Amino acid sequence: LTVDWEAGHYDTGGYEHYLLKEISEQPETVARTLRGRLDDRFHIAHLGGLNMDARETRSFRRVKIIGCGSAYYSGQIGAQLIEELARIPADAEPASEFRYRSPVVEADTLYVAISQSGETYDTLAAVQELKRKGGRVLGIVNTVGSAIARECDGGVYLHAGPEVSVASTKAFTSTAVAFALLALHLGRVRDLSPADGRRICEGLRRLPDQIKEILALEPRIEELARKYAEAPSMMFVGRVRGYPVAREGAQKLKEISYVHAEAYPASELKHGPLALIGPEMPTVAIVPDDELLDKNLTTLGEIRARGGRVLMVGHRVADPKLADDCVVVPRNETELDPILLTIPLQLFAYHAAVALDRDVDKPRNLAKSVTVE
Ligand code: G6P
Repeated sequence: LTVDWEAGHYDTGGYEHYLLKEISEQPETVARTLRGRLDDRFHIAHLGGLNMDARETRSFRRVKIIGCGSAYYSGQIGAQLIEELARIPADAEPASEFRYRSPVVEADTLYVAISQSGETYDTLAAVQELKRKGGRVLGIVNTVGSAIARECDGGVYLHAGPEVSVASTKAFTSTAVAFALLALHLGRVRDLSPADGRRICEGLRRLPDQIKEILALEPRIEELARKYAEAPSMMFVGRVRGYPVAREGAQKLKEISYVHAEAYPASELKHGPLALIGPEMPTVAIVPDDELLDKNLTTLGEIRARGGRVLMVGHRVADPKLADDCVVVPRNETELDPILLTIPLQLFAYHAAVALDRDVDKPRNLAKSVTVE
């Protein structure tokens, strides 16, 4: 069972679809998620809604993140940010898997539930199970006063405004930004240096303008989407920071264009999916200029050697022997790369769906908010 979609209250603001409106709003929605939360004196994040003092914030030895769909993928980005900036072991899991496997709930684990709507039943049920067992749960939620927000011990609101299109875009990005704030907060009560805190604060402040730069690439991304959307199936690959980006890119494409898409960690290709690669299955490769650049470029060579076409999304134009096409996004601090790398994939999926004449804002079989089991 699903809940019907209602859009009537909001207009598309001159855009052809809500989805494009919501993608285009991201410079402003990210600025809203950040507003009033960065402190230039101590290079920390102010997150008043967490309801935890410094001693309690220091006491957690693990972070477990749960959510469904795109919320889960943004949680994977969040887990990596927390591990990198706060050096606390963190991982993300689909909320439904978590709740059905009778999870071990520990006092020194911080649980984080993510939901744009705040009403997703599986996520709410997981939060209730956690609360029943005495777990400490924060919510990263867009909708103020929603069921999940009410159930949690504290949290971070996204302030991204209403998201109407079924496929999540601005809420995904704002969730990743909220995790960067949470990771900064957890890091700065532990061992993250003031210099690194400052670096992350400055990087976060650059995001809105850099998102504008990416949005300006839309005509080129539209061209690429038209070219690649003819393929019956696409592969998305990335390593570490690029992997959740690849998963979200594949998710967006299948949700709204119905083009079959798979996402794999780049190193896993050789353990099976490489058998699929050929001219009929192009690959979108997420290749930031980080410490894994060389390994990623080697993977591109392996794909090309098998006749696969490659669209690379990263920080440079690759050798034409390695990639047929490249989308170059602005650089920020390495830890924040996933936030910017996702945005071209949103535009790519959008224009693929338009080229294939799909019902962009209301894809078949899906609902914005799944409030029943
Ligand atoms: C539905 C939507 C997805 C969304 C997921 C979680 O499946 O179609 O776009 O990511 O629910 O929604 P939530 O509101 O909990 O973030």
